[in-house]
Amino acid sequence: MLRVVVLVSGGGTNLQAIIDGVKKKTITNVELVGVLSNNKTVKSLERAQNAGIPAVSVSPKDFEDRAAFQKAFLEKVDEFSPDLIVLAGFLVSVPQDMVHKYSNRIINIHPSLIPSFCGVGYYGLKVHERVLERGVKVTGATVHFVTEGMDEGPIIAQKPVAVEEGDTPEVLQRRVMEQAEWIILPQAIDDFANGRLAVTGNTVRHIKVTD
Ligand code: GRF
Repeated sequence: MLRVVVLVSGGGTNLQAIIDGVKKKTITNVELVGVLSNNKTVKSLERAQNAGIPAVSVSPKDFEDRAAFQKAFLEKVDEFSPDLIVLAGFLVSVPQDMVHKYSNRIINIHPSLIPSFCGVGYYGLKVHERVLERGVKVTGATVHFVTEGMDEGPIIAQKPVAVEEGDTPEVLQRRVMEQAEWIILPQAIDDFANGRLAVTGNTVRHIKVTD
């Protein structure tokens, strides 16, 4: 069983999709061993507790500087001995030590079709505001491996979502979550856990695993 830790910052709807996937066995060979948030009072911690998953928070507010927070955060992640770390609506930049220590074992969901609308300043609702400002007709979501740069790692999966007349950022965010994020993130975790992903440079191939 693959030990999976999920990092969250807010509502946890992507976390919920993962929890539901494990329960429905659309995600197999995975044990959710921990949920870690950078915020103390968020719905995602409640979702973890309701699912019986150890949930902890490590808040930057409790440390005198960023380096001390990042050290404590990584120590907490290490305590779970994860085989895979999933960033699900996690809005803090990953400590570089962690990226190196868990190379090719950290994945992230981003609410756009990378390389569009990503990088510094593109997170949460802001992504959808920029999408509407630019007037694109198609947006979507991307699951990718986390590397040193922001939203630059090898792409695992993407799913397009139509932008509709009269969309507000909130309506569009919800559609992208429902029609893309909550589908491709659980699928990517299942693929990783069952050895279906092969990374060569910046390319991720989905390989058929004969049972
Ligand atoms: C989602 O749009 C996610 O892609 C972004 O944060 C939003 C909330 O995610 N990173 P969640 O509900 O906390 O999973």
